[in-house]
Amino acid sequence: MRKIYPELGYRNGELYFENVPLRKIAENTGTPVYVYSRGALEYWFNEFDSAFSDIPHTTCFAVKSNSNVHVLKVLKELGAGADTVSVGEIFRALTAGIDPKKIVFAGVGKREDELLFALEKGILMVNVESEGELRTLERVAEKLRRRAPFAIRVNPDVNPKTHPYISTGLKEAKFGITFEKAFELYRYAKESRWLEPVGIHFHIGSQITDTAVFGEAAKKVADFVKELRSIGAEIEFFDVGGGLGINYKPEEEVVPAEKLSEEITPVVKKLGCHLILEPGRRISGNAGVLITKVLYVKKRENKVFYVVDAGMNDIARPALYGAYHHIVSLTERESETVVADVVGPICETGDVIAKERELPILREGDYIAVLSAGAYGFTMASNYNSRPRPAEVLVEGENFRVIRQRETLSDLIAREF
Ligand code: LLP
Repeated sequence: MRKIYPELGYRNGELYFENVPLRKIAENTGTPVYVYSRGALEYWFNEFDSAFSDIPHTTCFAVKSNSNVHVLKVLKELGAGADTVSVGEIFRALTAGIDPKKIVFAGVGKREDELLFALEKGILMVNVESEGELRTLERVAEKLRRRAPFAIRVNPDVNPKTHPYISTGLKEAKFGITFEKAFELYRYAKESRWLEPVGIHFHIGSQITDTAVFGEAAKKVADFVKELRSIGAEIEFFDVGGGLGINYKPEEEVVPAEKLSEEITPVVKKLGCHLILEPGRRISGNAGVLITKVLYVKKRENKVFYVVDAGMNDIARPALYGAYHHIVSLTERESETVVADVVGPICETGDVIAKERELPILREGDYIAVLSAGAYGFTMASNYNSRPRPAEVLVEGENFRVIRQRETLSDLIAREF
């Protein structure tokens, strides 16, 4: 097998996930289709989780990156918890059988009913992002006559050196609370009958490849935990968020999770805390691809457009962030290439999956795979242009199964009565 990513590569000229040729899936389920590999999910989860084996920890998979219940089940079997940002994500995690005591709940705008649901289910902690939210949480806890375990999401003000849309740890971002304010809130909570400070949380951004920034943030937050302990606030859980990057270009090296651990583990060990991690992309990103079919090859002057059957509604990242997704043909092609734009069917100029990309010469009806699509792929898909969302498929060894059916035309209008 000529490997591209773990479990993905060419065998006899055909692209495989594990032991299944992707063409077979495309022909069986139609396109566009998201395909995930159990083996790859396991590989990435274990690569990450084992890097922290020296310290008590819980790897809470960021459900926003891939929320399919069957994907969550695979990760649950490996011992994963869940990092959630809505009642919907908590519901999915619980449906997958994830232990509530391994679920954390973040987000700047939690509604009262969401907090109620979370407390009723007995999740590990609510990651609080504002003073107002802490008061709401207290009220909800009182209503339930049950103490609310929480962490405050602090904003350590470090620059993760990543795309501005996914940088969250700078002080101008809407996320988190300053150390000064957080200190006040922990002090308040200590006196409250209904609030139970159990942890501290930060998340500085996403697709971060310079692991030193995690160390920088962790040290700042660890100093803060020491201050909190001096006023008697017991902080057991030290939640470092997610954000470890992947290699969107297969030829580039991936940063080992070990490097992240080297930054974080010593800091957290010294505090004697239980470490919580919230990786999303790192686990699901390179465990999934989007298969799409070339509908038309359009030539104009010196430009070639491959018009494919997946649009920005199916995969939003290129249009939204100008993100790079590597593209390969499902059948290995001759070495001759052409520079082309890969565009979708949506009525927007921005509906481009790849711009001026050197690609093999493709014909109408050929299939291509958009790589690194397992994270923020399907979860960000929409019905824009009234397009039913794609199917999702899970590969397991020699087998594959549909884990979410392609939406139908009647699904589109099902709620419009
Ligand atoms: N924890 C918190 C509090 C988060 O806000 C996020 C991501 C994560 C964990 C997981 O981050 P990860 O390990 O996946 O980098 N749609 C964007 C990414 C947005 C990330 C938002 N928060 C993209 O497609 O690049």
